[in-house]
Amino acid sequence: MWSSVAWAGRSFMPVAGSEVAEKLDSLYSFLLISSAISCVLLIGGMIYFAVKYRRKSANDKTAYITHNHFLEFLWSFIPFVLFMVVFAWGWWIYDESRDFPEDAFEVHVVGKQWAWEYLYKSGRQSVDLVVPQNRPVKLIMTSQDVLHSFFIPSMRVKQDVLPGRYTAIWFESKLAGEFNVFCTEYCGTKHSNMISMMKVLPEAEFEEWLANDPTKGMSLAEQGQNLLKLKGCVACHSSDGSRVIGPTFKGLWNAKREFADGSNALADANYIRESILNPNAKIVKTYPAGAMPTFQGQIKEAEITAIIEYFKSLK
Ligand code: CUA
Repeated sequence: MWSSVAWAGRSFMPVAGSEVAEKLDSLYSFLLISSAISCVLLIGGMIYFAVKYRRKSANDKTAYITHNHFLEFLWSFIPFVLFMVVFAWGWWIYDESRDFPEDAFEVHVVGKQWAWEYLYKSGRQSVDLVVPQNRPVKLIMTSQDVLHSFFIPSMRVKQDVLPGRYTAIWFESKLAGEFNVFCTEYCGTKHSNMISMMKVLPEAEFEEWLANDPTKGMSLAEQGQNLLKLKGCVACHSSDGSRVIGPTFKGLWNAKREFADGSNALADANYIRESILNPNAKIVKTYPAGAMPTFQGQIKEAEITAIIEYFKSLK
């Protein structure tokens, strides 16, 4: 089961845990093999000609050659075709790796000096990334302090994790077991200690793990609702659609917001986060500017995430 770290894969690459990882490996193999063949042809040809046509005596003169249209065409056209193949192939895989499945199991990831924190919709928090096998998993990531980078070698996914922004990756592990998770952006003195473990469990075992939360806490959305009370937000914002001082939270999620300056935006995670930390960046039409204080430094990333989850549940 969770025995050894599945690192020793085929050849020198980490084990490929997903279909996308296998496709990436095929592209990588193609690059390696075509580079090796080109290298042998070029360097081998150069050595062969240098030996064959070396100057043997003082009177040995080389023939005067101007050019050869066909050869010049070939040595431009063949690499061009190769590069376009690599470009199209890479694009195809990249496109798939950025095409998030609708039904993906979502896990929130918060990076901080120097650990990864995993938050589940059920309210469960974990130091290991525990995910189901054979099911697409989407990681929604942000940082509490500096720039980190989230990397699961066996899934061939890597993404910068930034303070003040959400980024995401997805993968679907075909294998159960334990896999390494690394931070691949130098983020301070203990950067190299910022390692974590991903445990991929068969669906039934995963559901059991998820259900057996030792903290038996509230769901993320419930924590978010609770936080809105704790932080005093409900004094100015309603959750039932009625107008108080600020806009209501009801129907906020993913709604189109129109602002006082005539611009508009979708109320997504980044908009909500900005509105909490920098409330005056975008003022909703017909509402007063400067009415809300900033929560910069007074709220944790994990808490903002919980609030966003609560908004998502407020239809
Ligand atoms: Cu976080 Cu390096």
